[in-house]
Amino acid sequence: MRKVIIDTDPGRDDAAAILLALASPELEVVGIVAVAGNVPLHHTERNARRIVDLSGRSDVPVYAGCERPMSRELVTSEHVHGQTGLAGYELPEPRTQLESRHGVDFIIETVMSAESGTIILCLIGPLTNIGTALVKQPSIAGRIREIVLMGGTRAEVGNITPSAEYNIYVDPEAADIVMKSGIPITIAPLDVTGLVLGGRERLARFANLGNRAGAAIAALLDFSHSLDLTRWDGIGAPLWDPCAVAYLLRPDMFKGKMVNVCIETTSPLTRGTTVVDWWHATGRRPNANFLFEVNVEGFFDLLTERFARLP
Ligand code: RIB
Ligand code: CA
Repeated sequence: MRKVIIDTDPGRDDAAAILLALASPELEVVGIVAVAGNVPLHHTERNARRIVDLSGRSDVPVYAGCERPMSRELVTSEHVHGQTGLAGYELPEPRTQLESRHGVDFIIETVMSAESGTIILCLIGPLTNIGTALVKQPSIAGRIREIVLMGGTRAEVGNITPSAEYNIYVDPEAADIVMKSGIPITIAPLDVTGLVLGGRERLARFANLGNRAGAAIAALLDFSHSLDLTRWDGIGAPLWDPCAVAYLLRPDMFKGKMVNVCIETTSPLTRGTTVVDWWHATGRRPNANFLFEVNVEGFFDLLTERFARLP
């Protein structure tokens, strides 16, 4: 089993990603750290605990991390995820208690105490917590096995501005720290998440599993009431965050390219843009495996099979 810390801002698609990870025996989720993002931290941490309850995995601890980006005001996305972050399905009040340790300290202490090279970070929200952890304890960079993150875009237009993807846009300084950390990084950008659209037939596969988790996931991923699906030919919204977890489970289902990725942190117009040197024009060292293709049917088969294992 590979040890994984999930850093997340649940978040409707985050919920599906977390459930996918908790349903997969290949992964030992050693902790879930909430970050401010789609909705404020008091909602994301509560949602993370509600999702753990839904999974039946009361053994998985939940921590609260940073409540705002490293140097900017928080930009939330209630218009997509709803006021409390899990629009579409009403989950009960959480039973799982919030851990008292700060999420950033949990990340640092877990990486420093584990055997070097054994902890994977799966980042599916703004990168504030890991950016802060790298500033507080730089030596964790050499001990982290790899980072798999959902964020950024190259050939796809942005989803929060014309050029930027939301997770990177919210905390570009944190993303800049991560991209310069030297940690092995795989990025699941809008280019690849845009290939796995949650159309009605696909969501029906989850809803028809006959378990509560399947019904919840199908409802949470039905963005047709909150997003204009025109940009995805009216089919459905991308399964953004599940892509990062699916890559961890089945990297063979994806294609990526080692490229240099830099983050725009100065221009207000292009804040948070991932500047991807696809043809190595700059001579800058490649620092990320940038995913651009996925076996779409295999992806949905994997999710359906794993979601079926949940309560
Ligand atoms: O751009 C998509 C990302 O922003 C996803 O992580 C989604 O949950 C939102 O946080
Ligand atoms: Ca997210």
